[in-house]
Amino acid sequence: DKNTQDELKKEAAKVAADKVQAGSVLGVGTGSTVKFFIDWLGERKEKEGLTLKHIVTTSSRSKKQLESYGFKVDELADVDEVDLTVDGADRVDSQLNGIKGGGAALTLEKNVAVNSKKNIWIVDESKVVDHLSGFKLPVEVLPVSCMQVKKRLEKEGLNPEFRMNGNQKLTTHYGNYILDLDVSPIPVPAGLADYLDHTVGVVEHGLFLNICDEVIVAKSNGTIQEIK
Ligand code: A5P
Repeated sequence: DKNTQDELKKEAAKVAADKVQAGSVLGVGTGSTVKFFIDWLGERKEKEGLTLKHIVTTSSRSKKQLESYGFKVDELADVDEVDLTVDGADRVDSQLNGIKGGGAALTLEKNVAVNSKKNIWIVDESKVVDHLSGFKLPVEVLPVSCMQVKKRLEKEGLNPEFRMNGNQKLTTHYGNYILDLDVSPIPVPAGLADYLDHTVGVVEHGLFLNICDEVIVAKSNGTIQEIK
């Protein structure tokens, strides 16, 4: 149930928060697991006076929460390189490749991730899979050509649907739309990533391949598994 899942998220988040080094440049992701991570950072700040050189984050929600603990948040464009980014993920496979973007923040998440020396994902057991599956792949598209892109993806058999917010298309932080692709399992993630990377009108997609360095998994038997 949700309570036990929250407990697991909290456990994984604590292990990651303990790895954060004082004085470093930290990237902070988005989502319900990261929310616990920020709480733990806040606790370290209160208890041991943790300070960081810079913090960048991938959503206004995380930014607000960080500021509520008195952390100052900078823009990615204003920092040189990020030492460590901690983020959640929607699915992760045994190669540490993942699907992200359940929270529609994938574009900024990927930009922060690829500019980080190290990426750690924090997840509960339910998100770990053999082959990327069980979660629709989010693709951020420009409004100007969204209908044409949708048609093209349909022809490829990728089953795109606009993510909705009530009866309107959901808009991202950058004013774009999200197409969720229903393809599970994803037969060749690298091939699909390559195709999407070369599709005009696609801003970014939620396949995060060869980006993550370490996954911290909280298991329902109470143990923590660190996959590197
Ligand atoms: C946000 O766009 C996503 O990539 C999140 O990182 C992902 O959805 C994980 O969120 P939860 O921790 O809430 O599952």
